[in-house]
Amino acid sequence: MCGIVGYVGFRSVSELLLEGLHRLEYRGYDSAGIAVMADDGIVLRKRAGRVGELAALLDEQPVRGSIGIGHTRWATHGETTDENSHPHIGGNGEVAIVHNGVIENYISLRNQLQEMGYVFQSQTDTEVVAHLIAHHLSEQQKLNCDEPCMRTCLRAINLSLDQLKGTFGLCVLFRDCPETVIAARAGSPLVIGIGKDEYFLASDASPLIGYTKEVVYLADNEVVVLQPSGIQITHRTSGSVRPSIQTLDQVSSDIDLGDYPHYMLKEIFEQPQTVENALRGRLNEEEGTAVIGGLNLTPQQLRKVDRIVLTACGTSWHAALVGEYLLEEFARIPTEVEYASELRYRNPPMTEGTLVFSITQSGETADTLAAMRECKRKGHPTLSICNVVGSTIARESDGGIFLHAGPEIGVASTKAFTSQVTVLTLLALYLGRMRHLSYPAGKRIISQLRDMPAKIEEALQCHDRVKEVANKYADFDNFLYLGRLCNFPVALEGALKLKEISYIHAEGYPAAEMKHGPIALVDEQTPSVFVVPRSGIQPKVMSNMEEVKARKGPVIAIACQGDNAVAEIADDVIYVPDIEEYLQPLVCAIPLQLLSYHIALLRGCNVDRPRNLAKSVTVE
Ligand code: AGP
Repeated sequence: MCGIVGYVGFRSVSELLLEGLHRLEYRGYDSAGIAVMADDGIVLRKRAGRVGELAALLDEQPVRGSIGIGHTRWATHGETTDENSHPHIGGNGEVAIVHNGVIENYISLRNQLQEMGYVFQSQTDTEVVAHLIAHHLSEQQKLNCDEPCMRTCLRAINLSLDQLKGTFGLCVLFRDCPETVIAARAGSPLVIGIGKDEYFLASDASPLIGYTKEVVYLADNEVVVLQPSGIQITHRTSGSVRPSIQTLDQVSSDIDLGDYPHYMLKEIFEQPQTVENALRGRLNEEEGTAVIGGLNLTPQQLRKVDRIVLTACGTSWHAALVGEYLLEEFARIPTEVEYASELRYRNPPMTEGTLVFSITQSGETADTLAAMRECKRKGHPTLSICNVVGSTIARESDGGIFLHAGPEIGVASTKAFTSQVTVLTLLALYLGRMRHLSYPAGKRIISQLRDMPAKIEEALQCHDRVKEVANKYADFDNFLYLGRLCNFPVALEGALKLKEISYIHAEGYPAAEMKHGPIALVDEQTPSVFVVPRSGIQPKVMSNMEEVKARKGPVIAIACQGDNAVAEIADDVIYVPDIEEYLQPLVCAIPLQLLSYHIALLRGCNVDRPRNLAKSVTVE
């Protein structure tokens, strides 16, 4: 949520910041802006709207310099106006600041600053920080007029941070210390890119790709001073920090659109490959189990696990629901799925043998991080299933499993879901084989998993059929999504995809629950999408389809190749390959992702940048 970018060095900073903001735009796109250290002080360019609006402004009013900061906003405090766009100026132009996060005590700080004579231009919490830093800076300049400007700026930042409550990743430019950018983190991610005589800073690594492979992830309560001659990191309580340099393994093609019109479509079609990546090196054919290296727990410790809690938000929460089904089925371990936003404030009884997994694509979701920290504080082993290496959750968890799905840029999560489900299947197999699952059963699961990339490739062949179905139903304003057992989370996920990118009201339900209320919604104008592949429960789901038809509700079915019985009831069928029940979510999710994509396109929606959303929800 909100993207930050900063640079000190020798390049033309406006273009560099603009490119970085384009790459970070998925984090928020309500407005964008930059502040550049120019010959005559700090120059701002900012505008409500997409990064493209800022680019147009910079074409009309270019600004030159080689040090600067930039921001793309997801609004929390104040509407999406030019005034509320970042950067914000503090004092009389002494500092410019960009901020990601929420300052909880901003109202009392604003009152104090207003009493001191500071004049506010915006409704944001961020402007409070800008004036606060300017205030401390002027105090420190009076007290320490002979010391190097960088020291004074750093002291002003630290004094300001002491007064802030909330979360922040912030980045500050100083008029009187033109070679310097200072950034600080408490809860919102920041990564530093190391070049030769140049340093980069960003909310995630995407703006650094192609510029440097050496990165340092800033930890909470660390402050970094960036100058073309070097960086200096200090922890706010424990002092100087030796940067731990890590290698970035992403390449430019990971974040390019290629020939695809949208990231969402690109990411949907990447799924055969991303599922293969999630499986690579993790199938132990000989022993009929999975190879899971990063849990940092011995088999003896894992054997003692008597309960698993999976915590997540949104799509990752849906993947967790599939995981619950698999873990209970294969490993017979009681598993609970908790919304991270609830778990962080609840106090559920947890046994000593409870293992907690945070499931997250970004590794930065504020609620998931907070839930994980709460469980860690209580002494539970906290593991993660995460896509972004170097993210906060990946670094703070005691161990975990990476998805290796590559950057997911489309705001609507697609490939992360199938990778999460794949990894959860491997986990269930691994824990199952330590318990009740037999060797032949393990071998069978492995051979089916090995086939998954090809099955997903096959599922993608429904694309043209999905376009036809989308054309027929794009004008409907309410949808029901129904499925059972491990396909119930698929129904939830299908409904979420439709809601978030086409703004159509959609509800996901276990098919049998429909009779207990949602059936009242059924009429000619409310299509029901049934996830109804062949399985033991299929006849029951088909009865639910009949119940909808009897009430004149249009029925779209996701069914297995050649299933004529479903075709006889449904108005429209989209076929997927016929596979084992427990793996069906991996193929059934595909047509639902494509359906939401095409309906959104037909309704003229921006599928990669849906309204009101941002890719990573890093505020509470
Ligand atoms: C899904 O399409 C969403 N955009 C959203 O629900 C997302 O899955 C959720 O915010 C969790 O994100 P995470 O996996 O990065 O933690």
